[in-house]
Amino acid sequence: MADTLTITDNRTGRQYQIPIQEGTIRATDLRQIKVTSDEFGMMTYDPAFMNTAACRSAIAFIDGDKGILEYRGYPIEQLAERSGFLETAYLLLFGELPTAAQYAEWSGEIMRHTMLHTNIAKLMEGFRHDAHPMGMFLSTVGALSTFYPDAKDIFSEASRRLQTIRLIAKAPSIAAYAFRHSIGRPYNQPDNDLSYAGNFLNLLFRMTEARYQPDPVLEHALDVLFILHADHEQNCSTTTMRTIGSSQADPYSAMAGATAALYGPLHGGANEAVLRMLNEIGSMQNIPAFIKRVKGGEGRLMGFGHRVYKSYDPRAKIIKRVADSVFEVTGKNPLLEIALELEKIALEDEYFVSRKLYPNVDFYSGLIYQAMGFPVDMFPVLFAIPRTAGWIAQWEEMLTDPDQKIARPRQIYVGRARRDYVPRERRA
Ligand code: CMC
Repeated sequence: MADTLTITDNRTGRQYQIPIQEGTIRATDLRQIKVTSDEFGMMTYDPAFMNTAACRSAIAFIDGDKGILEYRGYPIEQLAERSGFLETAYLLLFGELPTAAQYAEWSGEIMRHTMLHTNIAKLMEGFRHDAHPMGMFLSTVGALSTFYPDAKDIFSEASRRLQTIRLIAKAPSIAAYAFRHSIGRPYNQPDNDLSYAGNFLNLLFRMTEARYQPDPVLEHALDVLFILHADHEQNCSTTTMRTIGSSQADPYSAMAGATAALYGPLHGGANEAVLRMLNEIGSMQNIPAFIKRVKGGEGRLMGFGHRVYKSYDPRAKIIKRVADSVFEVTGKNPLLEIALELEKIALEDEYFVSRKLYPNVDFYSGLIYQAMGFPVDMFPVLFAIPRTAGWIAQWEEMLTDPDQKIARPRQIYVGRARRDYVPRERRA
């Protein structure tokens, strides 16, 4: 009887013993609960997956009440302080921190794959001058599947590793091309002697100088932001990556879909929405009226709240510290004052306190990006670049998990019962 759940179906008086494993019951175990033998059996109804584990995962751990985030068991605070993005990506993908030799090989491989095929540049030139960079980014990631048809070989470990390297290496290049396209500047070529973040800054901001030298503070800040955004277990975009991947599509197509999921303002588009919100508030005296509108149900305080965190998002705490170091180089973002005041009010206000709404990763990241010279519509792209590592790690884990099959939820049909077709002239 231990580790089981006893369910009594009051419709029939029958009892069922359902095994409990890892604090969970299998939804399919409920199918035996029926009133008549020709019934489908009991299902669970869980729109938005509020209480459904769709996989067993060993990649990221979140304790939402305590505000804990770990990658492969390592606290995010330690990784942000002591690791680098490429090392963290290796950890997420392969489960362990690399040795010095493994790291040298890994980072060398990534940096050797940063160039884009010239036809990709041509493809990107086809976008309108004012195309949103996230739209360009996600379409181009999808288009990569046509450049690398070998990616369809998803059950080859060697092929998966090659696509992993290509995606992590090329994500910053595509992002930078999208940025340069939108401001009408020629595309830059990668400088593979720079770090991953340093090269990205080079791709974005190099003008006529022969060699671009990234500011070490900004380069480090970007690297830390990349670590913080690298994975976050089964969020909306990762679930999309796994769902598309479960049909055995290639990883480029799956990542295009994941990026589209990230684009929305409730997910990775929130950092962009925060900046637009802060601009709209405009000055300190408008804050009380804005908070009143949010509490009245007119819009949301963007960058606040989280499905899993019911305390301060640990990433937001680290980002606040990164912001200070960036502002020392770039000067303070004038919107910071408004953000700090919003946070102060929200953390004391009954509406936000009772709903456990705290700042999330997106609340302060946009202020840093803006201070670094990024236009607001680049913010979600800056989220997508590092999340590439997490998406692929999760995709790989899904593909190699014998429990997984094509994702295919059930529904409760609430439409019309069977009826016969009526010719058009006889319809009322
Ligand atoms: N501002 C005002 N009220 C809010 C907010 C907010 N940002 N977030 C949630 N609420 C209220 C919501 O109205 C509801 O109130 P009530 O119970 O009176 O109806 C209650 O809090 C619970 O909200 P919910 O919508 O049921 O929560 P959820 O888990 O479905 O949504 C969320 C999570 C992140 C989508 C939501 O908090 C939100 O829209 N936040 C703003 C967008 C944002 O910052 N997104 C970034 C998330 S972190 C990065 C990432 O993962 O992409």
